[in-house]
Amino acid sequence: MLDAERLRANLPLAGLGTPMYFYPSIGSTNDRAAELAEEGAPEGTLVVAEGQTAGRGRGGRPWFTPPGVALAFSLVLRPSDLSVEALGSLSALGALAVVEGLRSTGVAAWIKWPNDVLIEGGKVAGVLVEASWLGGSLAFAVLGIGVNVRPGAIPPAGRLEFPATCVEAALGRRVDRQRLLASIVAGVARWYPRLGSQEIVQAWEDRLAYRGQMVAVVGPGGEEQRGRLLGLSASGSLRLESEEGALRHIGERSVHLRPIDSLSK
Ligand code: BTN
Repeated sequence: MLDAERLRANLPLAGLGTPMYFYPSIGSTNDRAAELAEEGAPEGTLVVAEGQTAGRGRGGRPWFTPPGVALAFSLVLRPSDLSVEALGSLSALGALAVVEGLRSTGVAAWIKWPNDVLIEGGKVAGVLVEASWLGGSLAFAVLGIGVNVRPGAIPPAGRLEFPATCVEAALGRRVDRQRLLASIVAGVARWYPRLGSQEIVQAWEDRLAYRGQMVAVVGPGGEEQRGRLLGLSASGSLRLESEEGALRHIGERSVHLRPIDSLSK
């Protein structure tokens, strides 16, 4: 079990992680964090759950969080002057923090654009940013992070759109979930002051999976674009070179990226 007191003892980290709400089981930590934010919870409020019964992923897909085997948590953030366009930077920041937290355990992790985290080609973590707007300005954002830590966190094969893995399978040893959670929150705190900066885009690009490889990007209507993944533009959109040599920029709205190899399997 996660130990709320042990978690609390290591928080806040650079202002993030207090107050901390811990639930043995909850619908979705993102929903709870949004409720708390609506009620005025301060920046840095952290909601952690041992298990979720209605965990949510990107595009409204369910996110599997059985108790005791994963990390599922959400942070309330209230960045000033963040545009709709710069919100992508927030999800990149979440993915960067996860990659760095995982690397500190000794495992090589990469980002499948825009913000899935991979170990050895399998998805190990996902990031879901949800924002609330007041007029044209951001009232608050919820940064939700889910990590498959133990084998029981890997969803059953029939529920997978992309191969999944877990941290312990890659490391071949037990992982301290409290320590990993604190290290990811510390990573968010490290990158947060640079939100919207080119430094984040650069770090995001440096950790991108499939660079130089052929990939397929599938849009919301199922339309597919194939090309060589060159990197990112200054705004964080994906740069693809088509088979005819044309350069394309792809924004991150409801797209899925896959290496061409896994498509033919
Ligand atoms: C994805 O890859 O589709 C994003 C998954 C995000 C899952 C996390 S788990 C904690 C937080 N609460 C949720 O309901 N979702 C996010």
